[in-house]
Parts: sequence; structure tokens; C-alpha cells
Amino acid sequence: MKYIFSLFLVGFVLLSSHRLQAQGAVAVYVDGGLPTHQISRHIYGHFSEHLGRCIYDGFWVADTLKVAKKDRIRLDIVDALKKIKVPNLRWPGGCFADEYHWRDGIGPRNQRPRMVNTHWGNVVEDNSFGTHEFLELCSLLECEPYIAGNVGSGTVLEMSNWVEYLNHPGGSTLSDLRKQNGHAEPYKVKFWGVGNETWGCGGNMTAEYYADEYKRYATYVRNYPGAPIHRIASGSNVADYHWTEVLMKNVGPNRMWGTTLHHYSIPSNSWAKKGSATRFSEQEYFTTLKNAWFMEELVTRHSTIMDKYDLAKRVALVVDEWGVWTDVEPGTNPGFLYQQNSLRDALVAGVTLNIFNNHSDRVRMANLAQTINVLQALVLTRGADLLLTPTYHVFDLYKVHQDAQYLPVRFQSPDYVFENTKIPAVHISASRDSAGLSHISLVNIDPVKNHPVHIRIADIPWSSVTGSIISSAQYTDYNDFDHKNKIAIRPFTGASRESGNLVLTLPAKSIVMLELK
Ligand code: AHR
Repeated sequence: MKYIFSLFLVGFVLLSSHRLQAQGAVAVYVDGGLPTHQISRHIYGHFSEHLGRCIYDGFWVADTLKVAKKDRIRLDIVDALKKIKVPNLRWPGGCFADEYHWRDGIGPRNQRPRMVNTHWGNVVEDNSFGTHEFLELCSLLECEPYIAGNVGSGTVLEMSNWVEYLNHPGGSTLSDLRKQNGHAEPYKVKFWGVGNETWGCGGNMTAEYYADEYKRYATYVRNYPGAPIHRIASGSNVADYHWTEVLMKNVGPNRMWGTTLHHYSIPSNSWAKKGSATRFSEQEYFTTLKNAWFMEELVTRHSTIMDKYDLAKRVALVVDEWGVWTDVEPGTNPGFLYQQNSLRDALVAGVTLNIFNNHSDRVRMANLAQTINVLQALVLTRGADLLLTPTYHVFDLYKVHQDAQYLPVRFQSPDYVFENTKIPAVHISASRDSAGLSHISLVNIDPVKNHPVHIRIADIPWSSVTGSIISSAQYTDYNDFDHKNKIAIRPFTGASRESGNLVLTLPAKSIVMLELK
């Protein structure tokens, strides 16, 4: 009966949407009636590679740097990331993962070998940040580690030994070595990537070849007592649907917990000349957001293929690299991928996280690239100083969705049109948390037009609404070391209850989070 009523309401909303649109309002229907699943907190994960100043001079700093530290881990960064409840951290790469040999990063630091990081600037890596340091960082962050194992240049035995070193309770040579290195208890690492970008920097394999390699490596990624592993296959590059098809067919849902997808949003149509992070035209603004919106199609089409082999949705789609990728800041090492972060990037984050929430039946993990000083970072550092980027504030706003009940949202977005091309202007997702609070996150990417929004909420009692907003005068605005709070979370008082419905005007180029109770 409730279901029939819900259908009736949807029909009513769709019919009345024309009328409301004619009056200029976006008609939205939030369905609180039929709980289906939770939005996994792991959608809000992050990624930290041995690249540029993400690990070294990011998380892991010189003994002499005058900041609060545990060992050489910066605690001001830890505090900032704990506030946004980072659920998992992916490491050591990226492309670096497939030239990383874990034994180089354990034992006395002054005896660790030095290697060349050939992917990222040919810098000499001293291996002072290795397995124990990474897991100490995760423990400080109170997040799950997600380790990417080396398929490209490593062996099955090497990967298998790493898992035993980490997760075996004790008594074997490798687990005793862990104890000797200061950690008697097994780490119980759960998330395990079997290679990274095996179609590219991780070995230049075909899908068919990798599917066989995956099975061979994954067989020896063992479960030890109390430490069952979520094995994650190296999945598709952007729209390589054949890759997903082959993995699902040849590996199948019994042998993997997840398969990955990588997609970056660049401001142009050329990887050779991507565009600046801070000085860009409306053309570049539009292209970046159009590329970000492409995630909706990617997730839909990869999920459809996965459904063919796994209707029960046992295999997760793990978008473990996503974000904005621009040219590096002028004067910085091109191999370090250091870029600023503007309001545009925050809008990309808001749109993308709404897409993930709305596909959270299949997308159960994702990792923004990369946490500190690299690509779409959350934190930028300069010596002992640090600043929080606009993207950081989006993760702060959206943390309320972590592990909350997913609420379906239906609406017809108005277009944002630029030079005869259009993309949806308004993006929305919603959830209800265990305390009974409902949250609706709305993004308007139109740089000029405010959009009136009229939201009907079925089957959720509520009487009051509060809100928060991220916006700024220009979409090119960003936080720098002289203006750290130019873009931050501010109160939003523009939403109200009218005749039982939620009514607001969504400002141009803004991200709004509403809380209903
Ligand atoms: O995030 C930077 C790089 O992008 C990663 O190392 C690689 O996996 C991807 O191509």
C-alpha cells in the first residue's frame, strides 16, 4: 500500500514538475519510504602515493620541522583529516605501487635501500616511510588501510609474503619479523588491491591477460585468522567497458570483492595542455564540470555490465582514483603534480560525491587523488604552514552521508548551457542517519543563475531545517597562505518549510547541505 502511495507521489511530482518548472522551480521528490541500503563510508576515501610532496614533506616531514609530530608524521594534518572522518587511505600508489618492493620499507631506517621513483620526477626515495609508518598513520587517522600490491614488477610470492607479514597472528618467520620490527599484533589489513592500472603503468596488459594474472596473484593473497581480505582487481580506465566485461566474465563475483575505475576531470580536451588550476575561462570551467559529470555515465554503464554477471551486486565498483587534474603550478616540478584548488574543484567534488551516493548500491568505495599537495588535494602545505582547500570543506560537509541510509531523489535538472552544449546544472543526493536526521546535498554548477528548488519529502517526519553552504564570488577563487579562509563552510539560512515542503533558492556556483529534523 505504502509502495503504491509512493508511486502515486512520484507520478504526482513528475506531473507537477512541468508546472513548477514553468514557475521556475526545480521540483524534487525525496523518497523516505523504502529503505534499501546504506551509503558506504568508504565512498569518502582518499589516496596517498609516493609522489611529489604527498608523503615526503606532506604527511612525513623532516625531524627538524617545527610542527607537532608523532615520529615524523605531522599531527596538524592528522587532526584536520580526522575531522572529516577519512574512512580509508590508499597507498603506496598509483603507478608507484608497481615498482614498490615492501621489504625495502621495513627494519632500521638507516639500513633501508634507496630507490629511484621513476614515475614521479626520478627523485631518490629513501624508504623511510614504509609499511609500519603507513599503518601508524592509518591508526592515528582511525581509518582503514587500503594497500595496492605490486603486480607490474613484483612476484606472487612477494605479494603473498607481504600479506603474511601483515596479517598472520605470529609464529611464522614473517610474522615474527613484524614483531621484531615493533608490531606483535597482526595489522589485519582488509582492503587489498591486486595491482594498479595494469592496462598502463602497472604492466601494459590486456584485459584477458590481467584476468588470468589476477587469479594467480589473488589466490595467494591469503585470509589469516580474523583477517579476511577484500581483494580488489585493477579495473577499467575510464570508458574501457571491455575491461569490465572481461574481468566480470573471467574472474567473476566469487574471486573479487571489487573492481576499480579511474577517471580524472581535466579542464580541456588535451592531456598535453590541461589548463591552469586558478586562471581559467568559462570554457575551461564548463569542460571540467562536463568531464566530472561524465562519471554518471561511466558508473551507470560499468554497473550495467557488472549486473549481467552479478545481479546481486556482490562486487563493488571501486572508483579509487578520481578528481581534477590540471597543469602544475608555475615554477613547480612537473613530476610532482602540485596544483591549487579552486571553487570549481569543490563543485566537481560535490557533483561526484552526489553521483557516488546515488549509485551507492554498486559504488561502495572511492578515493580522491590525492590527499596532500598532489592533484585535487584536501590539504596544501608550505613548510610548517598548512591550508585547507575548498575540496576539503566539501568532504567536511558531506561526511554526514557516511554509512547513512540512502534516500532516492527524483527530479529534472535545468540545463547549464555553454556555447550550444548543455549539462545538468543541479545535482542532488540525500540520506538519513542513524539518529534520524536527514541530509540533502545540493550543487548548482551554473556560474550565474540561482535556481529555486521545491522539495517534497515522503515518509520522513521533519519540522525544521538548517543549512550550510560553500561558495565564493568567482569560480576561480581559492585559498592561499595569505587568505586561508576565502572559501569555507558558512551558514545557509535560505531554506524553509512551506506547506509541508522544503523550499529554497540554490545560489549559483554553490554547494549546500541541508539538515532536516
Ligand atoms: O594519481 C596520479 C596517477 O594517476 C597514479 O599514480 C596513476 O595510477 C594514475 O595514472
